[in-house]
Amino acid sequence: MPKNEKGTIGRVSLIGAGPGDPELLTVKAARRLAQADVVVYDNLVGSGVLDLIAPHVERIYVGKEASKHSLPQDEITLLLVAHAKRGRRVVRLKGGDPFVFGRGGEELNTLVAAGVPVEVIPGITAALGASAQTGIPLTHRDLSQSCIFVTGHRKDGSYGLDWPMLARPFQTVVIYMGVGALAEIAQQLLAHGMAPATPVALVRNATLSDQQTVVGTLADIADIALRRKIQAPALIIVGNVVSLYDEAVAAGLHTVSGS
Ligand SMILES: C[S@@+](CC[C@H](N)C(=O)[O-])C[C@H]1O[C@@H](n2cnc3c(N)ncnc32)[C@H](O)[C@@H]1O
Repeated sequence: MPKNEKGTIGRVSLIGAGPGDPELLTVKAARRLAQADVVVYDNLVGSGVLDLIAPHVERIYVGKEASKHSLPQDEITLLLVAHAKRGRRVVRLKGGDPFVFGRGGEELNTLVAAGVPVEVIPGITAALGASAQTGIPLTHRDLSQSCIFVTGHRKDGSYGLDWPMLARPFQTVVIYMGVGALAEIAQQLLAHGMAPATPVALVRNATLSDQQTVVGTLADIADIALRRKIQAPALIIVGNVVSLYDEAVAAGLHTVSGS
């Protein structure tokens, strides 16, 4: 692997930027950002995290938002390889954790195959950020014994989700990329035996200053979301743990961030 003008060997650090609040970045991630020659990032990286990048560092936005210009996945990986092969220290910043619905695995495989030194630095995935910020624990001895993360994003027109498993009691289901399909998701869970009164929370822009949380039940959450115009990026949290949200609000927990 070639060295750059400072004698540094090129490498790629595949970094999870967390759900948005820059204070949730790991110490290791912040150190790599400070050492970077170039940062390649996508739309879910919070502006507070981008503000930590020094002005002399090259920034490359590669998007992933339908309405904005974005590079296809294989071109993103080629870009990372090309910069590393020029001896540059490349930070690939992804929202949340790179290995949770983030296509980090695909980027890692291609970088390894290209012989590029690469490391992975985890980030706080959106579910954990939303949980902490709303006071909704994902597991609880009295309410939920397990927690499942799934994507509500359809591939080839079908969800490919195991609905009977998701509808089982005493667990928490967190759905990423599901807000656009909320009515259908709720319908499937009801059809597979989940109680209509099961509490559901939608958390949009978790950990950011404009975080929005709305709570309902499986029976009415789709209507509430429409009325409140909840849009991506948001998470759907389904399960009895959501009943603890009101207590957290009463205790003022959700107002602590950034203070
Ligand atoms: C492509 S996935 C990326 C997930 C990311 N790698 C992670 O670990 O959080 C994008 C989805 O993550 C969720 N998401 C990411 N950041 C979020 C945030 N700050 N608040 C709520 N949901 C978020 C939304 O469901 C969004 O549609």
